Amino acid sequence: MRGRALVTGATAGIGNAFARELARRGHDLVLVARDTKRLESVAAGLRDKHRIEVDVITADLTTDEGLGAAVNALTDTARPVDLLVNNAGSSLAAWFGTTDIADEDRQLDLMVRAPMHLMDAAIKAMTGRGHGEIINVASVAAFTPRGTYSAHKAWIVNISRWANIQYADAGVTVMALCPGFVRTEFHQRMGVDPNSSVPRWMWLKADKLVKAALDDLDKRKAVSVPSVRYKVLATISQYAPSSIVARAARRGR
Ligand SMILES: NC(=O)c1ccc[n+]([C@@H]2O[C@H](COP(=O)([O-])OP(=O)(O)OC[C@H]3O[C@@H](n4cnc5c(N)ncnc54)[C@H](OP(=O)(O)O)[C@@H]3O)[C@@H](O)[C@H]2O)c1
Repeated sequence: MRGRALVTGATAGIGNAFARELARRGHDLVLVARDTKRLESVAAGLRDKHRIEVDVITADLTTDEGLGAAVNALTDTARPVDLLVNNAGSSLAAWFGTTDIADEDRQLDLMVRAPMHLMDAAIKAMTGRGHGEIINVASVAAFTPRGTYSAHKAWIVNISRWANIQYADAGVTVMALCPGFVRTEFHQRMGVDPNSSVPRWMWLKADKLVKAALDDLDKRKAVSVPSVRYKVLATISQYAPSSIVARAARRGR
């Protein structure tokens, strides 16, 4: 039993798979996303099925108000959060240099600023209690030079690697989860259809991904890359010349 878990982006895709698996394992939950109706519906389903406590927080994590609401839940000493899943994320369809810089600012806020603030609050609360776990959902894109999305994910992987070492003795495990392509709402929200460019074998299932991630968390890994195929690809990406990796990576989005 890990107690209460807070999952950002819990209404769809990978975050929703985390919420369902953690509920199945008996965790109480705090679910964060922007769409209140959808949050309430997910929460009601999980309460009914698993007899757990589920709180919802409607929050746009790119705003100070939204971020503050999620931080408050992490610092609430009466209802401590033992596992933070920093998952909410999105991507722009166009490459940096052609996008609107205001959209890039929002992306930076969602992909880097929000997880940084939530991690800060969680680490302070968890080290005080002497235990806690944080999963930062990154991507195998962190290992390839591919515009701002991969740069944001590289930041998350780097800080997770460091925090995993830094806070181990304080009883806090921090892990970056690096999925490959997963069938979720992510690409549809981006307005792209990756089916023509991404072969079938490259797609992962969110439920399987989450179980592999939780196994790696139990092993206190700093970086989790589920599936053998993506372990191989991630290793190649890190050691092959970056120009070759970038050319190959440009094919899929
Ligand atoms: N799918 C992939 O192939 C893939 C691969 C590698 C890594 N990832 C990463 O996995 C994570 C989850 O992606 P996904 O594929 O599961 O995406 P998804 O299916 O589009 O779900 C995104 C979730 O994040 C929430 N969200 C989006 N913007 C938000 C904001 N500003 N504030 C609060 N919540 C927000 C959404 O709910 P609302 O719209 O209601 O806010 C939704 O619950 C992301 O960090 C992504 O970069 C995805």
